[in-house]
Amino acid sequence: MTTPYQHEPFTNFQVEENRRAFEEALNKVEASLGQDYSLVIDGERISTDEKLVSVNPANTNEIIGTVSKANQELADKAIEAASKAFESWRKWDPVARAEILFRAAAKMRRRKHEFSALLVKEAGKPWKEADADTAEAIDFMEYYARQMIALKDGKPVNSREGEINKYIYQPIGVSVVIPPWNFACAIMVGTTVAPLVTGNTVLLKPAEPTPVIAAKFVNLMEEAGLPKGVLNFVPGDPVEIGEYLVDHPKTALISFTGSRAVGTRIYQRAAIVHEGQFHLKRVIAEMGGKDTVVVDKDADLDLAAESILTSAFGFSGQKCSAGSRAVIHQDVYDAVLEKTVQLVKDITVGDPRFQENWMGPVINQKAFDKIMGYIEIGKEEGRLVIGGEGDDSKGYFIQPTIFADVAPDARIMQEEIFGPVVAFCKAKDFDEALEIANNTEYGLTGAVITRNAEHMERAKRDFHVGNLYFNRNCTGAIVGYHPFGGFKMSGTDSKAGGPDYLILHMQAKTISQML
Ligand code: SER
Repeated sequence: MTTPYQHEPFTNFQVEENRRAFEEALNKVEASLGQDYSLVIDGERISTDEKLVSVNPANTNEIIGTVSKANQELADKAIEAASKAFESWRKWDPVARAEILFRAAAKMRRRKHEFSALLVKEAGKPWKEADADTAEAIDFMEYYARQMIALKDGKPVNSREGEINKYIYQPIGVSVVIPPWNFACAIMVGTTVAPLVTGNTVLLKPAEPTPVIAAKFVNLMEEAGLPKGVLNFVPGDPVEIGEYLVDHPKTALISFTGSRAVGTRIYQRAAIVHEGQFHLKRVIAEMGGKDTVVVDKDADLDLAAESILTSAFGFSGQKCSAGSRAVIHQDVYDAVLEKTVQLVKDITVGDPRFQENWMGPVINQKAFDKIMGYIEIGKEEGRLVIGGEGDDSKGYFIQPTIFADVAPDARIMQEEIFGPVVAFCKAKDFDEALEIANNTEYGLTGAVITRNAEHMERAKRDFHVGNLYFNRNCTGAIVGYHPFGGFKMSGTDSKAGGPDYLILHMQAKTISQML
């Protein structure tokens, strides 16, 4: 019997002992920077000349590690290995597969600060955000392992006189997992272990900015007892390798988390049936967001300001769940704006290596340039109230930025910026606020700060988002508590960390037997 699922607690860094332990982990990670990591195909380590170079976004002189890139020949080899391994892995007792996840979760928990410290260095995450990222990775393993055990005999269907019926779930085949860099541990782990525990084999193509944490995880899964060929590590170029894996007739499931542009492209490509392919591919695509914090007339205004701040600037706004729009009732608009600006003045931006920095860098030059470009657009579309500056001389640092008085259809109200920029927009009443909140092509998260029960009911019905939060921020979904995924162009609403997620990785089979 396993204990009931509970989410992994966050580390309290007010406690001196925890702070010291985290410092030690950072020192340890820093002492091992610059190593070279191989591909893993059928358990074999393969080194190639072409490398992904992982760089610390807070200090671009610091190399986190280099990781070998696969070419198409090696991708073929990995697909062969995964196809072969599938024949035995799919027959494993689901409980034994779940046990590997429990073991991996225990191993990661023991090395929690080391994984988080690596996230600080490789992804530029502040301590608290890095700690939450690793905790979420552990949660995914604990939660999906239990879910698999619960699903192992399928679900009940009716039988009748002279006939016994069963409804069971079986794995699909070789899965391609393409995770993002922004939850470089959590989402990478979650999207990898879900196909694994359900009996599929995996080709993991890590996000280009964060391949080292993925390499460490692949080693950890091996230590936890995963057989050879079940999880193959194939870093590479998005087009050369990513699309090759997506198009290949032997891959059956594609699990992608990332931009809308890439997600829709994958969705389209995966629909094509290639020569020698005898199945339709499944696609799980979790893409962008343009998420809104709505503030009602009778809201707690301090709570509203805090919720806007956390939603907009946590991990420099680089979350698909980030609240990059604040839509505020006209009666409280000025007060909420003023309170938020006051809070933003206290934000410290700097190298997240140091605990005192609440906000770190953005991920790379491309992101920096894109966000600075949006800040220029914002200056045309609204009133710059605070922030607006960037410095990429050492790392990719951008000040938390607020634009006020932005029109509902402005570009900075519509397009995903993925950086520390929030647009404030005034609404004349709650109906108009909801209308503005719904006016984007995305539908991932949203928050409503209100004390009005009738308005809450209206938001439940009409705020068109996959994750709706009341009186809190719109980021930070917890596995098993807030299943996560969005509507509209935010993706396939696959609800990671929820009770329906594993089923997306399996096919249901009806078995009817006459007596
Ligand atoms: N699950 C994350 C959040 O809720 C986003 O991927 O913020």
